[in-house]
Parts: sequence; structure tokens; C-alpha cells
Amino acid sequence: MGEVGLDDVRSAHERVQRYVHRTPVVTSQYLDELSGRQLFFKAENLQKTGSFKARGACNCVLSILEQDPGVTGIVTHSSGNHGQATAYAARLAGLPCAVVVPRDTASVKIDAIRSYGAEVLLCDPTPVARREACARVVEQMNYAVAESSNSYSTIAGQGTIALEMLQQVPDMDAILVAVSGGGMIAGIATVVTELRPECKVLAVEPDGKQLEPCLRAGRPLWPDPPRMLRTLADGCRLQQCSPRAFAVIRRLVAPPVISVTDRQIAGATQLFWQRTKLI
Ligand SMILES: Cc1ncc(COP(=O)(O)O)c(C=O)c1O
Repeated sequence: MGEVGLDDVRSAHERVQRYVHRTPVVTSQYLDELSGRQLFFKAENLQKTGSFKARGACNCVLSILEQDPGVTGIVTHSSGNHGQATAYAARLAGLPCAVVVPRDTASVKIDAIRSYGAEVLLCDPTPVARREACARVVEQMNYAVAESSNSYSTIAGQGTIALEMLQQVPDMDAILVAVSGGGMIAGIATVVTELRPECKVLAVEPDGKQLEPCLRAGRPLWPDPPRMLRTLADGCRLQQCSPRAFAVIRRLVAPPVISVTDRQIAGATQLFWQRTKLI
């Protein structure tokens, strides 16, 4: 695959639709009145494994299996949602799976990964230790890596969110997407740019990520090795977007980037929960 395109997302949709939910779009008259806009929330918290990551992981693992039917297993590193999603996808594909997890990860997440049949390998809580532990599994077991955002097949899988959402809400003016490694916004922007170019794709980040200066510079300005942000949004702690996702984002997502503080996240989460009964 070169960079990812609409056809890749359509193929991903064909590949994964049997294994993931078409999630509902939730609305709230109260929140519309409060914001002075019509808001539509794609409830990916109701997705298989509890997050949209199931889309990307299923497409990634099933694509690996199509390309190499002799693959011996799947490995990834993740502190949470992608780990669970990859364990789920590997089990569907009938492949053994190892997930490298930082030692300080909540036990509920570790238990969830194990419940899908994957082996959990604990490592030090740094991005470098995670990558190294993953590389050791590749070397020793010859497993294939299912990247959480630095893979075009994962990005294409995440793009299926937008294919569905444009059917559910065809006249959207803007779509706001939370960004960590950047796979979700890269996939969504790939679809929206082709199918509804008048719809803005806006990145939302935890305060301190500083995606906007990178977009303005047209290149990543983050430190390497990457930092983990202190944020309530625990799925979005990685400061750096992955190189492949960033290449797509730089092309398709324009500033401004919306930065949110923990206080704003807590307030919005509480409000949303009270009004929609969804967390
Ligand atoms: C719930 C949730 N939202 C948003 C994101 C950000 O997605 P991405 O890493 O594709 O930018 C993640 C990433 O793990 C997540 O788990």
C-alpha cells in the first residue's frame, strides 16, 4: 500500500464489517441548545472491545493474514484500547497474540486483554521500553506487528467510522476527532476529504500535545523519544503522532487544533453522561 486512500477504507469496511458494530449516532436537544449547534456523537464506546480501535486492529490483523497466511502470531504494544482490540482481532483470525503493556497500566485493562486470550508482557512505562519489548517478540517468535496508528491498514480501518457517519449524518459541516497517535483522524480525514470536502476535520488534543505548531511547520516538532502527557484522556497520552499518521494529517487536516484541559474534559464528560447516559 502507498499512503492510504478512500478505496483502502472501503476495502477495510468490507473486511471488518462482520466483526465490528455499526455504532449509533446520539443526539441531545439540550446540548444543541447549549452549544447553539446541531451535535451528533458517534458512540464508539459501544463498539466491540469498547473503542473504535477494534476497527483498525481487525483490518490490520486480517490484512496481515491475507498477505501472509503462514504468519505465526501477532504482537503489539499498548496501554489500553489498542491492546484489547488487537487481542480480539487475533482471536478472530485464530492467531496467538502478545501484548506489551507498561507496568503501571490499570489491572482492569490488563484483565480485559487477557480475557481475549492474549499473553500480556509487562515492560517499563516508557515508549522506548515498549518498542524494545515488542521488537524482542518479533525477533524471538517471528510474530507480525499490529501497529496502533503507524500502519496504513490500521488507519484505513479507523476510516470506516467516517464512512458510516457520512451515511448517518450526510450534511455534516465539521467533524471533531480526538488525537493521540493520529490513526483515527488520519483515517477519517481520508474519507471526508474525498466524500464531503466541504466538511472540516478538526483535531482535538489534550492540552500540551502541541499538534498545531507541527501542522503549521509541516513537520513533526515533538521530542524523540516521545513523551507521555499527563491527561485525564488516558487513551490520548502519547504526545507524538506516528510518522505515517502524521504524513496523512499534515496533508488533510488544517489548523486550528482544539486543545482541551483536564478541567474541560471532566466538565464535558460529566455533562455528556448526565444528558445522554453514556460515558
Ligand atoms: C478512546 C480513545 N480516543 C481517542 C484515541 C486517539 O486515537 P489515535 O491514537 O488513533 O489518534 C484513542 C487512542 O488510543 C483512544 O483510545
